[in-house]
Amino acid sequence: MSKSVFIKTYGCQMNVYDSQRIGDVLAADGYTAVDGPDGADLVVLNTCHIREKAAEKVYSEVGRLKALKDARRAEGRTMIIAIAGCVGQAEGPEMMRRAPAIDLVLGPQTYHRLPALLARVEAAHAEGKPGRVLDTDFPADDKFDHLPGEATAPGPSAFLTVQEGCDKFCTFCVVPYTRGAEMSRPVAAVLAEAGRLAGLGAREITLLGQNVNAYHGARADGGSADLGELIHRVAEIDGIERIRYTTSHPRDMTASLIAAHRDVPQLMPYLHLPVQAGSDRILKAMNRSHSADDYRRIVDDLRAARPDIALSGDFIVGFPGETEADFEATLALVRDVTYAQAYSFKYSPRPGTPASVLADQVDEAEKSRRLAALQTLLDSQQQAFNDATVGRRFDVLIERPGRRPGQILGRSPYNQAVHVTLDDQTMSSYHALIGTVFPVTIEAGGPNSLSGRIAAPQWTAA
Ligand code: 5AD
Ligand code: SF4
Repeated sequence: MSKSVFIKTYGCQMNVYDSQRIGDVLAADGYTAVDGPDGADLVVLNTCHIREKAAEKVYSEVGRLKALKDARRAEGRTMIIAIAGCVGQAEGPEMMRRAPAIDLVLGPQTYHRLPALLARVEAAHAEGKPGRVLDTDFPADDKFDHLPGEATAPGPSAFLTVQEGCDKFCTFCVVPYTRGAEMSRPVAAVLAEAGRLAGLGAREITLLGQNVNAYHGARADGGSADLGELIHRVAEIDGIERIRYTTSHPRDMTASLIAAHRDVPQLMPYLHLPVQAGSDRILKAMNRSHSADDYRRIVDDLRAARPDIALSGDFIVGFPGETEADFEATLALVRDVTYAQAYSFKYSPRPGTPASVLADQVDEAEKSRRLAALQTLLDSQQQAFNDATVGRRFDVLIERPGRRPGQILGRSPYNQAVHVTLDDQTMSSYHALIGTVFPVTIEAGGPNSLSGRIAAPQWTAA
């Protein structure tokens, strides 16, 4: 009888990708995916450790799962609870202590070993033992060489991890400790996976990495390719109409990558380029290795290469020692750059990171005040960006049915969600539109999405 697994994902797009691959590993091991924990034989929480609340959410979820697990045990059945991802990596032993309901903890680099780890847990359970297993190695063998093929269709927009880990050691960040050292997958492996994804129906591929633009993958000729070159190669694959990449570090925005924004039509005019702060003093304390003006210059170069490029960023307020003047410098940078989207956070001290032990921690109320002020500015820029698209017509990749009847949902070149209203006749055959790129006229812009209509009245479903 096939076993069932529920996988819940927290955090970034890399975790979304990892969860899909965990699903592939488990499918090859006889598991069927289900979309809730009720009745599941195995629950995998693929966790995120980037900020405090992320880990706390995991502990609450384990509490809820324990109730289900106990109820199943009363019926003579088992439920295995596995913690994967970065909380597992960073806090494995503590998690085991704090939550006895957890059977298995593994990290982002060991999920290809899941079948063997699960077999150890099951063998112990069969003998009536607790059988708790921890595997948070950074193995010398590369997990990508041990993963089975994709078990399910990725949908029109797919993620593809090309780079992992980080050697930058920003002083606030846990990633170098949880994901390990920077590594790039070979060009051939990336192209093979992109080709398979295209064959399974993907039209857009987002190349992923914690430091994706540090990519330097081995080429068959013994050399190495940077991200600009990789993008050119992915663009040659039949069926791939759109390419994106995330997340980038300003220091690795090379001339070749910036030129790709000019030269590769499939590369979408949108870039997530975190700056974190606008004060050079704070950027230095963060070990970011660039100044605010370096960042402004990169943005100028990007806009020279691709004038309509939309920018997104990450910001941290209340880094230790941040004064009002430092914070003002962040607001000034935001005003100069103008963002189409952004993510902003209160600084959260992460165990084991250099910034967490700095003396000058900013108090919580002040962090909240700065965050609110920054978000007001960023929200107004996002609204203005969305409003400016009203009346324009651009290509939208249609991804799935919308939430409201008569609507389908897609994405603009600038990464905005677009709700497309269809007439009754078109709606009856909307399936034909999913996975196609269609011209849409934008009629309204909300804070987080646009709405519009297909700009081809002659269109009829084949
Ligand atoms: N506190 C607050 N925000 C953080 N980020 C990373 N570490 C921390 C931290 N300790 C934010 C950064 C990063 C994004 C993924 O999360 O802005 O770019
Ligand atoms: Fe973290 Fe900095 Fe590396 Fe990004 S570049 S993953 S913020 S250490």
